Amino acid sequence: MSSQPLSIVVLAAGEGKRMRSTRPKVLQTVAGRPMLAHVLDAAAALQPESIHVVYGHGGDAVRAAFADRPLEWARQAEQLGTGHAVAQALPAIPDHHQVLVLCADVPLITPVTLKALVSAANDTLSLLTVALPDPTGYGRVLRSEDGAVEAVVEEKDASDAQRRINEVNTGVMCLPAEPLRRWLDALDAGNAQGEYYLTDCISMARRDGWPVHPLFCVDPWEVQGVNDRAQLAAVERAGQHRQAVALMREQGLGLADPARFDLRGELSVGQDCFIDASVLIEGTVTLGDDVHVGPFTRLCDCHIQSGTRVLAHCDIEGSEIGHGCRVGPFARLRPGTALADRARVGNFVETKQAWVGPDSKINHLSYIGDSELGAEVNVGAGTITCNYDGRKKHRTRIGDRVFIGSNTALVAPLAVGEGVTIGAGTTVREDIPADTLTVETGRVRQIPGWRSEERD
Ligand code: UD1
Ligand code: CA
Repeated sequence: MSSQPLSIVVLAAGEGKRMRSTRPKVLQTVAGRPMLAHVLDAAAALQPESIHVVYGHGGDAVRAAFADRPLEWARQAEQLGTGHAVAQALPAIPDHHQVLVLCADVPLITPVTLKALVSAANDTLSLLTVALPDPTGYGRVLRSEDGAVEAVVEEKDASDAQRRINEVNTGVMCLPAEPLRRWLDALDAGNAQGEYYLTDCISMARRDGWPVHPLFCVDPWEVQGVNDRAQLAAVERAGQHRQAVALMREQGLGLADPARFDLRGELSVGQDCFIDASVLIEGTVTLGDDVHVGPFTRLCDCHIQSGTRVLAHCDIEGSEIGHGCRVGPFARLRPGTALADRARVGNFVETKQAWVGPDSKINHLSYIGDSELGAEVNVGAGTITCNYDGRKKHRTRIGDRVFIGSNTALVAPLAVGEGVTIGAGTTVREDIPADTLTVETGRVRQIPGWRSEERD
């Protein structure tokens, strides 16, 4: 690393017209988080003295989204170019600092690369470059015969010969603050775009005798900028692939297909976990050992203990799931669901604020909300907790070893004692003491000798 203190300037003032969105470009998300958050995390990993964000378009929303971070904000009222943008932040940076310039719309940049770039600067200048098969639109890196970087020329100002160069400026560079101030003051906008180009500082530095150390970035995705939704989607896939590979290599996660796996948050897994195709993980999710997640499932903010199977097409949010449970297919576990060990929740079951005891089963077509179920409870198909009276929610408590017949309505508030059996089709409106058989005896009439074809 550089021996000088480091300040980081993140350029985030661009309008991002090509996104065709009302949302400021740097708040567009990659892996569920704003692009700017990714860049700020990479910046913070270098432990700089300060991080300055140059903002303009949608500034209030951008500032509000990062109000909890220790950042310095510099407003660029008019977008007059990258050099002008850096100049807005520079008054707050002391002369003896190195300045690392990053772009907020280049979200996959890594701390490893940034550290290498700061080291390469070695108290002079460094420039992160990349070779692209199609360099159209980028600033080209001009080198002398001996390979030294001499200048960056923007596409619109380049000659035909210069446009054939495929080594381009990534926009990421590291420069000493004191001469940078002078170079920025001396910039003029006499170029094809009428902008103050930060890149012109490279040729000025050379003229003043400062060496420019290039660092070649081997992974073009790290420096891929996002200007439109197609690039955003491409960067999303690249970012997702990077996360998937890290989970497989570092945590031993089994993935059916890393191309059909999306993580928008944090996932940590034990040994021998397997995630099938087309699974989405959001928020903070932890899996114990030997947890299998079936295809087309979403897990959001939940913790699943070892040996549990989540089958296909489940939607699980804000839930705690014990050891050896089986959930799904087609189960919806809403926030506040807690399944104790070996509980089973089957197809077309919805739970919410529901505590389900060990070895209990809710296997088909039920709604269980605001409820506590004891151990070894069996909930028959079509059982509904009627928890809402139109104004308030009420709780249902069901003791151990209760057997609930199919198509039972449990009208809360309600307490059902241990060992109760409720016959199919019962509407329970009153508490039931332990060890009671409860059957609704509304008689079904049978009228013999009736032929439907004789009705009219
Ligand atoms: C810039 C570089 C180019 C490089 C390319 C890499 C210059 C002059 N050119 O080109 O050499 O190959 O990046 O992607 O630097 N911004 C502001 N204020 C402004 C203008 C830009 O904050 O007035 C911000 C943008 O929000 C963006 C970044 O600076 O984050 C780069 O701006 P952009 O217009 O995308 O740069 P390019 O013209 O593509
Ligand atoms: Ca531009």
